[in-house]
Amino acid sequence: MNILVTGGAGFIGSHTCISLLESGYSVIVADNFCNSESKILEKVMEITGKRVITYEIDVTNEEQVNSIFKNHQLEAVIHFAGYKAVGESVNKPLDYYYNNILSTLVIARACQMYSVNKIVFSSSATVYGDQNSPFVEDMNLLPTTNPYGETKAMSERILMDMCVSDSRFSVALLRYFNPVGAHSSGLIGEEPRGIPNNLMPYITKVAKGELENLNIFGDNYSTVDGTGVRDYIHVMDLAKGHVAALQNKKNGAHVYNLGTGYGTSVLEMVKAFEEVNNINIPYKIVDKRSGDIGVCYADVTKASRELNWEAQQNIRDMCRDAWRYEKYRSSVKV
Ligand code: UFG
Repeated sequence: MNILVTGGAGFIGSHTCISLLESGYSVIVADNFCNSESKILEKVMEITGKRVITYEIDVTNEEQVNSIFKNHQLEAVIHFAGYKAVGESVNKPLDYYYNNILSTLVIARACQMYSVNKIVFSSSATVYGDQNSPFVEDMNLLPTTNPYGETKAMSERILMDMCVSDSRFSVALLRYFNPVGAHSSGLIGEEPRGIPNNLMPYITKVAKGELENLNIFGDNYSTVDGTGVRDYIHVMDLAKGHVAALQNKKNGAHVYNLGTGYGTSVLEMVKAFEEVNNINIPYKIVDKRSGDIGVCYADVTKASRELNWEAQQNIRDMCRDAWRYEKYRSSVKV
């Protein structure tokens, strides 16, 4: 069974390719490598011992996308391709709307034209906006504070409307919480360009000595120790969530939170990283980052009930694997 994975060389995409190949699917990746590298897919093949067919195309290009649908009998599409930097989206809203919305439209239209009835879409917990956790799938969505979040909410809506108009479709809209960690081989992981925005890649750079200290954004939230709380999920658990969503054939559009259901504060994460890897992480408390909310974690009962999927790995596993990958990465100067 052929699965088209758009953005398959990215952080979550590449780990999902591993889970798909290990579950017996054939994987076809469409990626323009604008925020990734083709050698990641070589690592995926090395880890699994299986082949990945790759198309270096832009998923906003309808003609190129359609040619993949013509060349291969596809079972489903997992659509990851998109820009994902929250801060950048505020400065480049048109790029974000153009790229993220158009790619969803091109994929959805191709699926309709070629009768590929299963789509799994990469959404984000950011669509919930600033509400009280735990976030439940049927909550009203609030406008997010950034264009990136809006593109996710709009793409969800486009796919939901498609399902209303065409009952053949089965669409899973997966709202990710905070994916971190790396494949346990240490061969692939997160590769942010420049200074990382997200917590875990920042911590690993401090651990390596490339950055002097971690800046903790605020310590007076109403949380266990005042620092922000998030629902971190191991990227391999998240990858397996995609396979579970793919195997669920229920018609219509269905939303699922993919998280662990547990919140961890920034200081708890730092402490776990220090303990597991035996490295000191110096930090400073600085001002809150604009747009941040205090607490964000998932209600995960729906995914457990309907997809028979639950995250298995804990914070310590995430810290161990993130650091293993960072060490590998510096040893081969990726
Ligand atoms: N943080 C720091 N210092 C840093 C980086 C982060 O203290 O250098 C804190 C943040 O304030 C927050 C927590 O660590 O409390 C997690 O921050 P991240 O930047 O790692 O993640 P976010 O929760 O802000 O955002 C992530 C993704 C978004 C996605 C969102 C969904 O990056 O794309 O989760 O909830 F939309």
